[in-house]
Amino acid sequence: MPIRRLAPHRVVCIDDLRRAAKRRLPRVVFDYIDGGAEAETTLGENCRAFDRIALRPRSAVAVPHVDITATVLNTRLDVPFILAPIGSSRLFYPHAEEHAARAAGAAGTIYTLSTLSGTRLEDVKKATRGAAWYQLYLVGGRDVAMAAIERARTAGYSALVVTIDTPVAGMRERDIRNGMKALVDGRLGPMLPFLPQFVAKPGWLAGFLGDGGLMNFPNVVLDKGAMPYADVGAALAQSVVSWADFKWIHDVWRGPIVVKGVHTADDGRRAVDEGAQAIIVSNHGGRQLDGVAATIRVLPEVATAVGNRVEVLMDGGIRRGGDIVKAICLGARAVLIGRAYTYGLAAAGEAGVTRAIDILRADLLRTMALLGCPSLGALDRSYVDARP
Ligand code: FNR
Repeated sequence: MPIRRLAPHRVVCIDDLRRAAKRRLPRVVFDYIDGGAEAETTLGENCRAFDRIALRPRSAVAVPHVDITATVLNTRLDVPFILAPIGSSRLFYPHAEEHAARAAGAAGTIYTLSTLSGTRLEDVKKATRGAAWYQLYLVGGRDVAMAAIERARTAGYSALVVTIDTPVAGMRERDIRNGMKALVDGRLGPMLPFLPQFVAKPGWLAGFLGDGGLMNFPNVVLDKGAMPYADVGAALAQSVVSWADFKWIHDVWRGPIVVKGVHTADDGRRAVDEGAQAIIVSNHGGRQLDGVAATIRVLPEVATAVGNRVEVLMDGGIRRGGDIVKAICLGARAVLIGRAYTYGLAAAGEAGVTRAIDILRADLLRTMALLGCPSLGALDRSYVDARP
């Protein structure tokens, strides 16, 4: 089935994977991936801001070989993009986190596992032959987080990604309209009005039920067992990470820390002061504070502020290889992709993630050759016109 869904003439770009995901998923699940906060202004801007940056090629330059490798926290990547943490992936496809991790490892890049995953972190690490990062929320409190950090270290995760932009869950209007809350509540009564969307997608439904149905979060282990899905909103609001927490997080983790969710020069500098080895300029894909600027717009400010003291990554709005080139020109060492691979994951599991990666890799090689630039290391601001 995934083969037909991914036929080469049907899936040419990431937007085709988005459409394939939309065909397979119930509306509530598709919108959970696709949507953003409030008016979705930041969600849209993340992509549109890339369109307003023009590339400036050097023509009549032969580029027989293009080097698109990158090194992030001493790990060599075959492609300059890492798979971002995506919570609840197991709603999209059975054993989704393992599928995505396997595809990332096979492509020579890193998979980042969200705290809010439906699969045990040990199983996800085993699924990839590459490196993996663990993304930390403090849901459940400090002791619960400490236990997860210890487990992540023992399992071989190589960096801890601490997300700082989620003091409460963003207001995702699509989720409310589609009945997301009623659906994860577990009681049949409130669920009933929203059930027809599942019956309309029997392929997804069979996979979901076969995978155990409504999930919990096995990496958030409370006294009474794994945290149930329905508790996540309240748990997030009670688990704000603050700069003071970095001290104990460092002490427990004892490895590289990546701060995810930096929007400003000040926060970039603060992350350096708190001992981060890398930062991710990110607005959570437009899912948290609506109205913040597109990440590609704030990237130069943050990159200039932190200089070489920390590795600078970014995410938000990347749908084409050209977007990755623009981000590197404006100061990123590499990027993270979120929805770009998640659409593939939701459409066809591992094969869909692999297709997303293949599309972006081919885009990158072609764009670099058309730009007349032999390596990512040679990219700089002279290759873009980013005037407002
Ligand atoms: C996310 N993101 C996210 N970030 C995080 O730190 N922990 C998480 O659990 C999640 N969960 C999550 C779920 C879904 C469905 C999406 C789309 C996003 C944010 C993610 O890591 C990344 O920052 C954005 O997805 C980047 O934007 P693009 O690439 O999706 O435009």
